[in-house]
Amino acid sequence: MTTTPPSVRSGTAPSLISTLPGPCYTDPAIFALEQERIFESLWFCAVRGADLAGPGAFRTVRIGRESVLVTRNRKGELRAFLNVCRHRGARLCTEESGEVRRNLQCPYHAWTYDLDGRLIAAPNLVRMPDVDRVAYGLRPVHLREWLGYAWLCLAEEPPSFEDTVLGAAVERLGDAASIERYRTEELALGRRITYDVRANWKLIVENFMECYHCATIHPELTEILPEFAEGFAAQYYVGHGAEFAPEARGFTVDGSAGPGRLPSIADEQDRRYYAITVKPTVFVNLVPDHVILHRMFPLAADRTVVECDWLYAPEVVARGADLAKSVELFHRVNAQDFEACERTQPGMSSRVYREGGVLVPSEHHIGTFHHWVTERLADRPG
Ligand code: FES
Ligand SMILES: [Fe+2]
Repeated sequence: MTTTPPSVRSGTAPSLISTLPGPCYTDPAIFALEQERIFESLWFCAVRGADLAGPGAFRTVRIGRESVLVTRNRKGELRAFLNVCRHRGARLCTEESGEVRRNLQCPYHAWTYDLDGRLIAAPNLVRMPDVDRVAYGLRPVHLREWLGYAWLCLAEEPPSFEDTVLGAAVERLGDAASIERYRTEELALGRRITYDVRANWKLIVENFMECYHCATIHPELTEILPEFAEGFAAQYYVGHGAEFAPEARGFTVDGSAGPGRLPSIADEQDRRYYAITVKPTVFVNLVPDHVILHRMFPLAADRTVVECDWLYAPEVVARGADLAKSVELFHRVNAQDFEACERTQPGMSSRVYREGGVLVPSEHHIGTFHHWVTERLADRPG
């Protein structure tokens, strides 16, 4: 993030700087390294807490190369474990979601774990008094809750959540309070759309970080946010939110009024749009009457599933308000963005892109992301 718009940059910086080389977006070996050193090492936004309604509800989610089981214990607290039986390694839950009554039982030889992961039963366990039920419990995964989501980290020693996750919002908005005012954790799910994108996850991050493409591919968005048609404004000023067009009544596909401002946001946040990237896989969009949160699940070098949640005040969802025009605006933006990413992916394998392409000045901040990826991959011995 920089506070200097490209138009006032000193004349010495070159207009075009290099991107990552094409193979970074296609090579399975590089993707495997990213799984190890990025997705399995950093905080990964996995599950929305409200999707686990009560004790025994579970979801399985893939993080890097691991399957992780997220559940609620009897006290209603979220817990996460590697989805691997400690006996002979069978996958404990094969469904994406479900509910168990009291315990998690492996379907192979019936080792049984409570919802805190302790081994509580197994055939003939009483005849094996030396077996430590905690040591042979499910392997826990670090878990933090923020914005109503479970953020998981597979690293033995996770990086600071405050620096790497909360810090991204502070870096973008200038302070920690600005995002908290949306009270995202109290909002209700109005709509969820899952996109299966045939593109590398980094193309999706890069696209989200720049606005050079907005005038070309986002006609509806630039109607509501005219400064996005300029291509650079919003990303370059810490704390700046793009202002709605005077004639826009709400953040909707046709500029009609939305469901109404969230009561806790500040006056200066009204009629403004803020976008935050929380590396490696989360995008948060804040508008006066809802929050849009994207979670990416990179599945292969050329395939990324993106789950997008539209979150509204609980009473708006409860009264069955018509959210179609509200959801449609960013659904179109998503579809336009992902189509652009899919159009770009095949070019990454072309010989002309072997050394990469270029970034224009309004995209130079993407170079910081490239630098971050490169450092992560080079960081530690494999
Ligand atoms: S592998 Fe799970 S009980 Fe044997
Ligand atoms: Fe876009």
